[in-house]
Amino acid sequence: MKTRDHCTALDAADPLAHCRARFDLPADTLYLDGNSLGAMPANVPARMKRALEEEWAHGLIRSWNDADWYPAPQRTGDKIAKLIGAGQGEVIVADSTSVNLFKVLVAATRMRPGRSTILAERTNFPTDVYVASSVAEMTNCELRCVDPDEVLAAIDDTVAIVSLTHVNYKTGKRYDMEAVTRRAHEAGALIVWDLCHSAGAMPVRLNGCEADFAVGCGYKYLNGGPGAPAYVFVASRHLDGLRQPLTGWHGHAKPFDFTHDYAPHPGIDRMLTGTAPQLGVIALESALEAFEGVDLDVLRAKSMALGDLFIELADQELEGLGCTLASPRNAEARGSQVSLAHKEGYAIMQALIERNVIGDFRAPDILRFGFAPLYVRYVDIWDTIAALKDIIQTGAWDTEAFRTRKSVT
Ligand SMILES: Cc1ncc(COP(=O)(O)O)c(C=O)c1O
Repeated sequence: MKTRDHCTALDAADPLAHCRARFDLPADTLYLDGNSLGAMPANVPARMKRALEEEWAHGLIRSWNDADWYPAPQRTGDKIAKLIGAGQGEVIVADSTSVNLFKVLVAATRMRPGRSTILAERTNFPTDVYVASSVAEMTNCELRCVDPDEVLAAIDDTVAIVSLTHVNYKTGKRYDMEAVTRRAHEAGALIVWDLCHSAGAMPVRLNGCEADFAVGCGYKYLNGGPGAPAYVFVASRHLDGLRQPLTGWHGHAKPFDFTHDYAPHPGIDRMLTGTAPQLGVIALESALEAFEGVDLDVLRAKSMALGDLFIELADQELEGLGCTLASPRNAEARGSQVSLAHKEGYAIMQALIERNVIGDFRAPDILRFGFAPLYVRYVDIWDTIAALKDIIQTGAWDTEAFRTRKSVT
């Protein structure tokens, strides 16, 4: 039997415990939704104040040069590169994950002209499938969606691109990136990884497994703020000759020559399209300071331990209350979240949120709990399970207000 004291002792021995102070978190709130919107790093407001009041208000347009605004997407990309196992000059911050996925899928499909299939996964986050579907239509390919356990077998020599998300948004199930990438390459295909649910929660080794392309968002475990700009990775061996479809001026070799014809930038800048959302890039860049000095293997070890503890306590405390585990039990096969299925999941999550225990809900019946290892404590897991148990046992969730769906779940 695990107790709350056991969790407090784990916090006392946590080598990352000091990182929680790097975030501005309300004292009365348990935040287990950093897999959806990361908490705000405490250094960001001062940086934004400077960006607004000095750089924008007084520097005005001079700040593109004087405050080094212009190279911020490259600079921030290089910082993200260190978290995802990429080299300097292989990652750039731009647009949204969806838009970057579009650019990368078209570019990659153009690199495999004789092949006709984009292989994706049925349970992937919808935007990935929607974008792949449009790209397939535009490039005269066929989009083939299979179940997660069918992916390896489905990679054959008709496949141009395999497009997958490293960690599934709903179940937290994690692909073996190395094994799938190797299989794609053996079959002559290219691979595109969506890192939305892995970057910042675990080490990702893109170059370690010779991945071709990756995309990801800035607002989950990277803590870049609501609607933060996303990033895109292109392995340096593919940059030369790569043709992405959204050929805007910021991807041009010499944007300020204002020439009529498009000539792509020789490096990762060719993945840019238009002007960066500069304030968002600044927020993301300063948010990444929360990772300073953090060993990503230690981060992953804590993330796995938090997930294991959550599952153990759910087994111990929630038996007979209608919850079933919807994530892998084995920590190696999991990202940094645990999902529980319950037929009243939506109302239960609303009741939790009213008690300042914040996770989220994914239709039809998933309660999602994310463990951002920089700021989630072991004791938060105990207190969350205790609140969940009380809400289900007492039926506190069973009100009209908690059942009424809000626009964002
Ligand atoms: C796997 C995955 N891809 C993409 C997105 C969203 O993409 P965008 O930033 O374009 O809204 C999400 C959002 O949660 C996601 O989970």
